[in-house]
Amino acid sequence: MAMFAPSFRSPLSCVALLLFSASCSDQAAEPTKTEESNASTTSAVTGSVTADVSEGAKIYQAQCALCHGENGDGKGIVVLDRPARSFLEGAFSFGNTTAAVTRTVTNGIGGTPMPGFASVLNETEIIAVVDYVISLGPEQDIPMESATLLQVMDRPVVVRGGLGPIAEGLPTIPRGLLLGGTDGLTFQYDAETVRLLGVRQGEFVKRKDWENRGGDFLEPLGTLIHLVDGGDPNTMWQLGSLLGGNMDVKLKMVATEVSNDKAWLEYALLDGNGKEFMRMRESGSALSMGGWSGYRRVFQSINRPPGLTLTFREPQLNGRTVELGDSGRTAQVFEQKDGTAFIMMSTMDIVADGEANATQTIDFLFGRADTPETLAELAEAVQ
Ligand code: HEC
Repeated sequence: MAMFAPSFRSPLSCVALLLFSASCSDQAAEPTKTEESNASTTSAVTGSVTADVSEGAKIYQAQCALCHGENGDGKGIVVLDRPARSFLEGAFSFGNTTAAVTRTVTNGIGGTPMPGFASVLNETEIIAVVDYVISLGPEQDIPMESATLLQVMDRPVVVRGGLGPIAEGLPTIPRGLLLGGTDGLTFQYDAETVRLLGVRQGEFVKRKDWENRGGDFLEPLGTLIHLVDGGDPNTMWQLGSLLGGNMDVKLKMVATEVSNDKAWLEYALLDGNGKEFMRMRESGSALSMGGWSGYRRVFQSINRPPGLTLTFREPQLNGRTVELGDSGRTAQVFEQKDGTAFIMMSTMDIVADGEANATQTIDFLFGRADTPETLAELAEAVQ
């Protein structure tokens, strides 16, 4: 049963996204991705490269050839809105190292038909198919070591500096912030206003500001998978008011932190007089479920005053609310101009000390058309 909201400004469409309000009780737990496929549990005797590659070839034919073509030329039998990648030239725009390709195959590429395989293949299978896909291309050049090329290794990395316009016609960002995750995603912020401008996937950043005389912009290297509201979003939080209408909340950066394998931002929420009334932490990571991929933003409120309702501002698109099967969960679905959809789903965990310090997650999934079938796959994945 779908509920159609005429526009993102309608109060109806806000209800589904009321955050930190008492009506948002505990929701379904995190989707589990632990189910292992039993397709190849027999391959306990690996170790030899050739065994891996032939194992990888089998998985490739079963899972990838449909889109990427039997021989990896990108000409599969499934017709896509954009071509799948040809592996024969070995040009990987999301990174060509085993680690980078593994991340691509595990998480998928948000905003494209490339699905994540985390719930379909186990780790060994993913590595086998990744080795196979890399083996289809030419011998790789050894990447040039560069002191200014920053990579995310086993720990997230936070970099501050000036950023060029994220999209044509937009202003430069003098105080930019890049959060690079171990999952290969980079969250690009304007630190002045604490706005997430876009999400990238691939390599991390080139510190152009360390070259020459300094003062140059940082050069984020990942491919942009999502521009938040065209790259120039409004402030993210609004305060609900009983009189109707929402009030924009000004945000002020307080700190960044790397903990629990994630990079976090901490910021203050300011009232009309510029006075702090609570704080919030946030972090983001790659997400793929039910054939959809994108990313998850996690928000933790710190000392939220009782009774206060915060609303997350929705994308400036026409949206509707859909129920996800029998999961008891709903999603906001926004149609995009190119025929694909953009999905927002939120869940809330009230921690032991009540609403004051609650955790909210909001999932952003995109790149597919919102047909009954693709929504059913999503419903199954969130069960
Ligand atoms: C439903 C179709 C589909 C399936 C199935 C699929 N892919 Fe993809 N894949 C794509 C598309 C489309 C792209 C290009 C995305 C883009 O950059 O626009 C892509 C991109 C990729 C890339 C990124 C290349 C780069 O530029 O860095 C890798 C790696 C990849 N796929 C590996 C795989 C593997 C391995 C499998 C099987 C386990 C697989 N894909 C299954 C559609 C698919």
